[in-house]
Amino acid sequence: MSGLATIGAAVIGTGFIGTVHVEALRRIGVQVRGVLGSSPERGRQRAEALGVPRAYDSLAELLADPAVQVVHVTSPNDLHVGQAREILAAGRHVVCEKPLAMTATESAELVALAARTGLVNATNFNIRYYPLNQHARDTVAAGDLGEIRLVTGRYFQDWLLLESDWNWRLQPERGGALRAVGDIGSHWLDLMTFVTGQHVVEVMADLATFIETRREPTGPVETFSTDRSAETVERHIATEDTAAILLRFANGARGSVTVSQISPGRKNSLQYEIDGSAGSVAWDSEQPDQLWLGHRDRPNEILLKNPALMGPSGRAASALPGGHVEGFADTFGAHFRAVYADVVAGAPSSRPGYPSFADGHDEMLVGEAIARSAREGRWVEVDRSGVPQPVTSEAPR
Ligand SMILES: NC(=O)c1ccc[n+]([C@@H]2O[C@H](COP(=O)([O-])OP(=O)(O)OC[C@H]3O[C@@H](n4cnc5c(N)ncnc54)[C@H](O)[C@@H]3O)[C@@H](O)[C@H]2O)c1
Repeated sequence: MSGLATIGAAVIGTGFIGTVHVEALRRIGVQVRGVLGSSPERGRQRAEALGVPRAYDSLAELLADPAVQVVHVTSPNDLHVGQAREILAAGRHVVCEKPLAMTATESAELVALAARTGLVNATNFNIRYYPLNQHARDTVAAGDLGEIRLVTGRYFQDWLLLESDWNWRLQPERGGALRAVGDIGSHWLDLMTFVTGQHVVEVMADLATFIETRREPTGPVETFSTDRSAETVERHIATEDTAAILLRFANGARGSVTVSQISPGRKNSLQYEIDGSAGSVAWDSEQPDQLWLGHRDRPNEILLKNPALMGPSGRAASALPGGHVEGFADTFGAHFRAVYADVVAGAPSSRPGYPSFADGHDEMLVGEAIARSAREGRWVEVDRSGVPQPVTSEAPR
């Protein structure tokens, strides 16, 4: 046996997204050897429900399993750095959920550690892997849009609309100082850098907290769940429900993004439009198989995802023929296929096409500029003075 079939993975965290990781790994042919839950009992319950052979009692036990070469970190944000550090120190490749860390100081440390160990490292900015987003990147890189001038959009959800809505993300010590921006704005910002090839270099941000007191249930709450326990305690909330951010990109393009977790009716709506001197593209995550192509002197087009009509990157991210919708869970498989090509090779490519720890760190730097801009009420430059190497990804292979 060789290649993917010899690789074993383990997944830390068995909630909303840990489950998606397990299923995507199986689909691409990677053996999931076991999971680690928040407690041995919870891990065993989830392992049984998912049909995974083993639940580990601790990270130490997981890392002692010689059948595991790659570890996926899908625990709450405050655990990412400590777990990723131990995984790399134990010589295992790592795929970590976003946001990579709680602070840019921590994410810089992870980038340096990953470089020293020579192990494969990825941050799960999965939205890049909708086939049409890969295609949009190729379209921009080929110059079809001309010079990129305006990059606009939003990421709206409604699952934290009510004061009775609760999740660990609302606690800054678990989720981070930025909430809506760190949780979902980071996806939009990474996606726009990926598609345009341009980094955000300066930001002007207005953050708002509309629900300053929430009721925390005394029992546990699953992400996106609407079940509520009757007993609650009041909690003061200081992290943002919404953000409106003006952006300046490295090539001089301008932009804006609005982020919200309290927009009634918007379940998971990421939209963008990129306007260039020769054409535009626009995409909406709730209609992920359609890419709008805007023209000045001929009719506009809608490209339905179709491997036969897309370039190599779009084709590589597609698992199904045209007319067979590919959605959120499919992006994980496409992302992991790219990451595991490096795992099979034994080391990261010199500039990986998938989002690495360097890209996760870059979003932490942009996030810190956003937080500072909101605090000080002024434009703030993204400080990349400590970044040792270029972080722009090459086109995926
Ligand atoms: N890429 C994406 O699209 C995407 C989507 C959702 C969440 N996420 C990220 O994934 C992570 C998890 O989010 P979620 O929505 O699945 O949350 P969740 O609350 O549904 O799941 C988190 C899980 O981690 C477990 N856990 C807690 N402490 C643990 C520990 N010490 N060891 C092992 N497991 C532990 C919890 O029991 C829970 O099952 C977050 O970092 C989040 O930002 C990414």
